[in-house]
Amino acid sequence: MNLANARIFLGVCGGIAAYKVAALTSTLVQRGATIDVVMTAEAERFVTPLTFSSLTAREVYTSLWDAPERIPHIRLIRDADVALVAPATANVIAKLANGIADDLLTSALLAARIPIVIAPAMNDAMYEHPATQANLATLRARGCELVDPERGFLAEREIGIGRLAAEERILETLERVLARRRSLSGKRVAITAGPTREPFDPVRFISNASTGATGIALAREAMLRGADVTLMLGPTLLEAPAGVRVVPISSAQELYDAAMTWTTGVDLTIATAAVADWRPEAYADEKVPKQGEELATRLVRTPDVLAALGQRDNAGFLVGFAAETEDHEAHARAKLRAKRLDAIAVNDVRDGRGFGTGENTLVLLWGENGRRELGTGEKSALAASLLDAVEELMRCS
Ligand SMILES: Cc1cc2nc3c(=O)[nH]c(=O)nc-3n(C[C@H](O)[C@H](O)[C@H](O)COP(=O)(O)O)c2cc1C
Repeated sequence: MNLANARIFLGVCGGIAAYKVAALTSTLVQRGATIDVVMTAEAERFVTPLTFSSLTAREVYTSLWDAPERIPHIRLIRDADVALVAPATANVIAKLANGIADDLLTSALLAARIPIVIAPAMNDAMYEHPATQANLATLRARGCELVDPERGFLAEREIGIGRLAAEERILETLERVLARRRSLSGKRVAITAGPTREPFDPVRFISNASTGATGIALAREAMLRGADVTLMLGPTLLEAPAGVRVVPISSAQELYDAAMTWTTGVDLTIATAAVADWRPEAYADEKVPKQGEELATRLVRTPDVLAALGQRDNAGFLVGFAAETEDHEAHARAKLRAKRLDAIAVNDVRDGRGFGTGENTLVLLWGENGRRELGTGEKSALAASLLDAVEELMRCS
């Protein structure tokens, strides 16, 4: 999909750069996009709806209550391929990060199951405020695409960061997001994520530091590309994305059982879960009392979920993950072969890297010597690069 056949939901907020977004709207119309403009009440103080309705030759929406029987906040966002918020005020960014939906724009954005592109513009002090930065980080971690503002002359007649990104940068981002849009439409994707817990009594277990962030980011990205996604998710405090089917699991055995069910007949399986390799052999029904200086317990192997998936012919294109602390790629290639995977993503988890919501570095390996560096970055950005690469491999396989 490209701009010429895209339907864009454009949210305009109350900032001075609203006038620049009128020019951007004209460019988008000239490129063939269909645009539904939603303005906040404050945006109307800067530019009139007439400007946007003239440019788009379509109705401009400013209130939840104009034709409420048509439930505009759901209809408009559901019909669109991408949502662009420009200029995004500190206020709307804060509302979106916190789930506040008190007008048409913020209600529609909260209901969005389409990619959201945010182009902030504001005074440098507002932009650099820790609250704004924290809100932007929250939105980035949830998979929103941010088009960072630029440094330059601000309306306050000062030089600083906060100018709306140049039109070409916003257009490039829209094109990149749209190129991926619907690329997995009609496809079924199964993803495993998070740690497993192997209990030895009702309150104690063996587990690991995985948070499920990578699998959650992949599930969101696959859903945004139009796939029907099932996420088998181990215990984690992170939120699973709305719009994907979540199958909660706890132990390796539960993950194995879920995987055997939910990967049947899918087009793509991505196994990111950090499955415990061992579990305590004995399980005590009551909490084991604290007595004596030592407690010995025997560990036995858990089912190898990835190897079992590799043995099946109906789990689609199968991508594994390898978290290694030494000789990463050699170990990962051995795993790729031994477990009959189609591809494997390798990350270096030395010194706690790779776990949690921070950045990660990934390399994708396949076949005899296929290799692509996916780079270092936020897990949401890496999820997009990984799916780009996997989709390419799936087309060739
Ligand atoms: C002249 C003027 C210019 C403003 N420019 C911006 C701006 O560029 N960015 C921003 O975040 N807020 C700006 N504000 C503040 C917002 O208009 C204000 O926070 C408002 O509540 C935003 O409403 P909205 O987010 O619903 O559109 C400006 C206010 C005034 C009076």
